[in-house]
Amino acid sequence: ENDVFKYYSNGEWKVSNSGKCVPVINPTTRKTQYKVQACNQEEVDNVIESARIAQKSWAKTPLWKRAELLHKVAAILKQHTKPIADCLVKEIAKPAKDALTEVVRSGDLVSYCAEEGIRVLGRGNYLVSDSFPGNERTKYCLTSKIPLGVVLAIPPFNYPVNLAVSKIAPALIAGNSLVLKPPTQGAVAALHMMHCFHLAGFPKGLISCVTGKGSEIGDFLTMHPGINCISFTGGDTGIAISKKAGMVPLQMELGGKDACIILEDSDLDLAASNIVKGGFSYSGQRCTAVKVVLVIESIADTLVKKVNEKIEKLTVGPPEDNCDITPVVTECSANFIESLVMDAKQKGAKFCQEYRREGNLIWPLLLDCVRSDMRIAWEEPFGPVLPVIRIDSVEEAIRHCNASNFGLQGCIFTKDINKAILISDAMEMGTVQINSAPARGPDHFPFQGLKDSGIGSQGITNSINMMTKVKSTVINLP
Ligand code: G3H
Repeated sequence: ENDVFKYYSNGEWKVSNSGKCVPVINPTTRKTQYKVQACNQEEVDNVIESARIAQKSWAKTPLWKRAELLHKVAAILKQHTKPIADCLVKEIAKPAKDALTEVVRSGDLVSYCAEEGIRVLGRGNYLVSDSFPGNERTKYCLTSKIPLGVVLAIPPFNYPVNLAVSKIAPALIAGNSLVLKPPTQGAVAALHMMHCFHLAGFPKGLISCVTGKGSEIGDFLTMHPGINCISFTGGDTGIAISKKAGMVPLQMELGGKDACIILEDSDLDLAASNIVKGGFSYSGQRCTAVKVVLVIESIADTLVKKVNEKIEKLTVGPPEDNCDITPVVTECSANFIESLVMDAKQKGAKFCQEYRREGNLIWPLLLDCVRSDMRIAWEEPFGPVLPVIRIDSVEEAIRHCNASNFGLQGCIFTKDINKAILISDAMEMGTVQINSAPARGPDHFPFQGLKDSGIGSQGITNSINMMTKVKSTVINLP
């Protein structure tokens, strides 16, 4: 039992009554790296009940005190950067330097959120009645933002720490309590992060972390009547959750098929370096990764050549060595990526590199001359495999973007800002980047997807607002 990481409930570290555990497989060695508790439904009930109780007094805790505690967590997180980052390397094969960045970014996010909460929540609204027809000035309406109650946070494997705190910090500053269900790959990093909250001294039960199998506690958590808000980042599961969840606010960030449109007048060196960074960092396992390049035919050969020169320079190997391309998260994921590659091969895509795979490690691959009858033109590989579609006009590029069921981000490379704005307006995406690869950050920017890419908007300010409800008090004069 000793080597199974405990879960965190009501301010204590506990062993599950289930007597079962879940292995966390190291993507590089493909062997069990850690084990976490397989919590059962009774334990989930207990965690939600303690969150319900703790939230009542937390909501009455002065805002500046809530902010003070969050600042404390941020400092503690930064003191524990190394052990948390080490877990990310072992659990999700994130290159060591990126793992460190993830933890530092998380500390910064928590601090910023504490500050933003003070401003956003410290301000109410005041309305008078005589502005609406038929009313005298006899009603005075005071509004403020109140917490929702218990927030359920479900982050994905690719940012188990950063996308956890991007949900936890807004929930807490707004006066909610929080239950975290981390992804299995990344669960130990999340438990270490939770330990930082524990050390900061939050009230018992206010924040908890249950680990276990989605098949056993997933639906139970998301359909639980004690949950008042769900913030989820991940894949298709989010669509299933949104269909089953009760009448609670949902914040969903799901997949993307972020397109990169390259126009004739663009700076091709800038475009090529952004395509490689956007398409291959963390081996393409980012919802905001560049997932399809749409390039005007007349410049396609030059662009492809420049991209290939940069791909040649990418290092491939274990995350401990800080390689650019590291093993993808699971064997299942590697098999899926391979299926997209094979489908493209069979249908005649041009392979710029030889396809190579060892275990979960897939070498970076650019697929040129991809056509819309290939699965990879539409599906999200979540791996280091990038399709290039040659197009004849901007209109064709926009048509391709908008035909996708996803609508997370997109990017345009051109020196003509007027044209870029018009194209951005025409693209059905939550965010369009001009002359840079898609990205979620800086973390206070709004972040949202259209269509199957999500519900609601994130970013620090939007998340704080989403995790509150407006409450009015009306003073009526005789
Ligand atoms: O995977 C989804 C993340 O929200 C993307 O974040 O753009 O900072 O990599 P990022």
